[in-house]
Amino acid sequence: MAPLPPGPSIALVETFRYMTDPVGAYAWFRKNYGDTLTVKTLEGPLIITGEPEGAREVLTADPTSYEIFAPENLRMVFRDGSVPLIVGEPHRRQRKLLMPPFLGARMRAYAGTMQQVALKRMGAVRPGETIPMHEVSRGITREVILRNVFGLADDSLVARFEEAFVELQKATTPALLFFSWLRHEFGGVGPYARYLRANARLDALIAEQLTARRANLEAAPDDMLNLMMTSKYDDGTGMTNEQVSKELVGLLVAGYAATATAIAWGVYWTYRSPEILRKLREELAGLPADAGPEAYASLPYLGAVCNETLRIYPPVPDMFRKLRAPIQVRGYTLPAGAGVAVFSRMIHSREDLYPEPDTFRPERFLERKFTPYEFIPFGAGVRRCLGAAFAEQQLKVVLATIVRNFDLELADPAEVPVRQGVGVGPKNGVRVRLAQKLLS
Ligand code: HEM
Repeated sequence: MAPLPPGPSIALVETFRYMTDPVGAYAWFRKNYGDTLTVKTLEGPLIITGEPEGAREVLTADPTSYEIFAPENLRMVFRDGSVPLIVGEPHRRQRKLLMPPFLGARMRAYAGTMQQVALKRMGAVRPGETIPMHEVSRGITREVILRNVFGLADDSLVARFEEAFVELQKATTPALLFFSWLRHEFGGVGPYARYLRANARLDALIAEQLTARRANLEAAPDDMLNLMMTSKYDDGTGMTNEQVSKELVGLLVAGYAATATAIAWGVYWTYRSPEILRKLREELAGLPADAGPEAYASLPYLGAVCNETLRIYPPVPDMFRKLRAPIQVRGYTLPAGAGVAVFSRMIHSREDLYPEPDTFRPERFLERKFTPYEFIPFGAGVRRCLGAAFAEQQLKVVLATIVRNFDLELADPAEVPVRQGVGVGPKNGVRVRLAQKLLS
């Protein structure tokens, strides 16, 4: 076999560290083996790259050259046949249908809901109260997706969906995710049976909703769901309700947690620095009095704060593929069967691109432009995050809404990044005390 990039001969300690202290593990990998290395895993060799050129080579490789990495675990959270679990031509076909509602040009339509939901959820906090911002932001992003993507308008319906989804999240325990032998029903009792029941409950709610919509599609609002239900493949057919349902679950799962993490980190970095808070408020105060939340999209300093938030601890820091055919990465020929991964935090912490990488400094995004492989929080290529424009807008609108309307004090001035599912989030949940509301 052709040589692979060097790496640790036994990676037990590092695998454990990767699971608990991922940011420390990335730094260790770089210090000891450089930016592209091989780690031995139970699944075979995994080649990791933290170089922009390596990321380009992996993420723009011929889509027929790879398949999904560890699909059996992902099947616990995504539905079989939905975009995150398919590859090649079926993936291209399905993405083409799902993409239009997520294009940047349609984002204006969603800004109002994002602001209202943020105001409502933050408005429920009493002055003097200390809250975990990450919990509040999860509530915000869940509700925004349910309203904007699922097309739910009725408050009690939103609440029913939210409850069903939260129950499913609770039932999807890390043990079930990582140990396939636990996935047995044992006569309707135990964690897997609970998980199956929670899944069925959410699916039933969605099915009910889609059937009602389909029965009166012409009169339905011109929203994301409508676009999904009426778009056509090249052969003139559209998605069945079952397919729409699978994609909705995927969008909710893929979208809510990462965006909530980004918002929590954004609040943390902003309120940690009086200077950043002052600059943001100054920029927001310069908007015309009648400017709506869609105006936030073009504010340079707000944009830089959001980019820096996504740079320093990217909420989804690792992208994996399983090779079906050999590909070239940084001069190495990686064999079929190997795993390959792009670690964006390794790229985002390169001194040559981001001097003093552990310092939060939004100005770096105003001083220079980064290529799509140097700044890569949403991935790149044909699997680039489908909800990137939606997430960016939500991060901007929610952060601006909070900054404009609420004086917060950090209860834990030093947060640290830890593994949270497939992402990396703040260990203590960014606890903040509401000093005062700035609105009437
Ligand atoms: C700050 C928030 C978000 C971050 C950091 C993020 C990050 C990512 C990344 C890095 C990928 C690429 C994975 C890969 O190449 O293996 C991805 C894929 C995806 N994201 Fe996001 N995401 C965010 C929000 C959202 C939202 C709001 C939605 C939908 C409403 C969404 C839907 C998806 C979907 C469906 C995929 C799979 C795309 C495919 O496989 O073709 N994401 N996301």
